[in-house]
Amino acid sequence: MKTENKRLEGQVAVITGASSGIGQGIAIAMGREGAKVVINYYSDEEGANYTKSEIEKAGGTAITIGANVSKEDEVQKIFETAREAFGTIDILVNNAGIQQDASLLEMSLEQWQKVISTNLTGPFLCAKEAAKEFVKNGVKEGVSKAAGKIIFISSVHDIIPWGGRVNYTAAKGGVMMMMKTLAQELASDRIRVNSISPGAIKTDINKKDWESEEGKQKMLSQIPYGRIGEPEDIAKVAVWLATDEADYVTGATIYVDGGMVLYPSFNE
Ligand code: BGC
Repeated sequence: MKTENKRLEGQVAVITGASSGIGQGIAIAMGREGAKVVINYYSDEEGANYTKSEIEKAGGTAITIGANVSKEDEVQKIFETAREAFGTIDILVNNAGIQQDASLLEMSLEQWQKVISTNLTGPFLCAKEAAKEFVKNGVKEGVSKAAGKIIFISSVHDIIPWGGRVNYTAAKGGVMMMMKTLAQELASDRIRVNSISPGAIKTDINKKDWESEEGKQKMLSQIPYGRIGEPEDIAKVAVWLATDEADYVTGATIYVDGGMVLYPSFNE
């Protein structure tokens, strides 16, 4: 990745779930672009330390902070830690997410609540804390044209139904309307709110689907562009959305999915 531009120099980015996968890719990319990075993790401290070392290797600055994004006091701790370390926050990437798949008849209330808590309540709590800081600060001259940027990492399953995963799709559908509502509500405060909806990106969350040859072929059959995505595919778009290049973009969902949302089975 081109790193010499330092397009996020002077900004602070909080990235949830940055100990692996897409969150890790975004944290590293933003760190390379000059942002000071707050790497949140839930339990994988080792993964978070790896993310930090990759940023430092590229000359960047980062800290790690363990917290469960579905708990308000722990979310507040993330933002307090960020402020103590770096003075402020400019970018929030609401990335942390999990899957707990089961058919409706098999899904326990616990499985439902766990996914809703992490994937929907977590982003709400983090957006609230970030917005408080952005509203308080307003636009900082010479830093960015916006007072703050919130990027949700949603999923193609905010519009593609997915049997056996109603907790996940309901949460992601909710994220889409949360993003649009907050974009509308916060635009006059010069806060930009957008989503990236990834398709099949090769990470731990879907490892069981791509590790066998059969699974991989099935996945590829759903991707017109003919390759499974990498975290960097998402990270590049997240960096761009955080820069002033995207200053007029708010309330948008960018599907970064090799065409997965294009109903590939209709291509006859
Ligand atoms: C899911 C992955 C899946 C992808 C495409 C993501 O939101 O977390 O498990 O591979 O969507 O279906």
